Amino acid sequence: MFETLQPMPADAILGLIAEHRDDPRPEKIDLGVGVYRDAEGRTPILNSVKKAERRLLDSQDSKAYLGTAGAPQFNAGIQDLTFADSVDAERLVTIQTPGGSGSLRVAAGLLLRARQSVSVWVSEPTWANHIPLLGGAGLELKPHPYYDTDRHVINVDAMLDTLRKAPVGDVVLLHACCHNPSGLDPTEDEWRAIVGVIAERELLPFIDMAYQGFARGVDEDAFVIRELAARVPELVVSNSCSKNFGLYRDRVGSLSFLAADAASRDVVSSQANNYVRTLYSMPPDHGAAVVSMILADAALRGEWLDEVTAMRARLEAMRSLLNDALQARNPSRDFSHLMRATGMFCFLGISPEEVQRLKKEFGVYMVDSSRINVAGITEQNVGYLADAIAAVV
Ligand SMILES: Cc1ncc(COP(=O)(O)O)c(C=O)c1O
Repeated sequence: MFETLQPMPADAILGLIAEHRDDPRPEKIDLGVGVYRDAEGRTPILNSVKKAERRLLDSQDSKAYLGTAGAPQFNAGIQDLTFADSVDAERLVTIQTPGGSGSLRVAAGLLLRARQSVSVWVSEPTWANHIPLLGGAGLELKPHPYYDTDRHVINVDAMLDTLRKAPVGDVVLLHACCHNPSGLDPTEDEWRAIVGVIAERELLPFIDMAYQGFARGVDEDAFVIRELAARVPELVVSNSCSKNFGLYRDRVGSLSFLAADAASRDVVSSQANNYVRTLYSMPPDHGAAVVSMILADAALRGEWLDEVTAMRARLEAMRSLLNDALQARNPSRDFSHLMRATGMFCFLGISPEEVQRLKKEFGVYMVDSSRINVAGITEQNVGYLADAIAAVV
């Protein structure tokens, strides 16, 4: 059987992690991997998470199956975090999923249950894994303009022009905040214009929110979702708790559907639960139990919000530190687009050859597009990093 299979190329990011790990140079820097890092370069377990885990250990009295939709308290907590009171709860259903990726995959399957062929507009560029994940599930992906690589801004007009020509009923995948890889999000006015075109063209918005709280704030980052919820009949939202709760390996996410009315919500809900049963049966519980405990307890929730604020502030500070250090070394080159980005990622804006030189000559690792994870920057390494970048550009 297996002799018919051919080996697959290694995942670019996983390959980069391995190369960085095997690099003996002590000054090496990893700006590739997509996890948050603190000032000591660690990806910590949040204090709120540790506390909830301890409580859970004492209070949990069963590991019996919970069902295809996971824990109802988790789903209610995430629904509140995502939609607040922007929409009639009777039109909403949320199911717990294995991470944001699991959520995207279930959404893809359901879209294809609803229609034989589905076209999804995705930003050019988008998160690298959107393409194999959603395309591999059978959706047809079509790029719309987004990042202007010369000016380092979002080309909103070109994006709107493309969406205005999209056939009625097509799906539009949007990053709610901290666009991965560019770090550039539309302003509130630009979001309103995008929402207007979606409503006008009767497109189905599909929102991927993997970084809630990392751009402007937990509520602020849900802006486009709440705008859409008020204006469109149907909406799909994928959430990930990997980054904002630091629960990467525990695989915590959710999928929400806003349906036209309560009756269609019930149909979508039954389809989602049925589909999950055929796919992985049920989501893992531990991380979601931790999240629902944090969201339901005022003190833990407050501590978690403070921890998200601290992560966001560190990302902002590191971006600014790098911008200042680059400016000091190379005043003729403008890196101020770093300051327009939010969240973990942005493009440095250098060529693939320069990216390779950074790796070979300086042990500075990033993907070829020059997307960097600013969480890999520290006060200790920023000088070395800026020297290295200035030497290759
Ligand atoms: C834009 C985007 N969506 C979804 C995900 C999925 O996250 P996970 O499956 O780890 O929860 C990520 C992770 O990097 C992401 O960047």
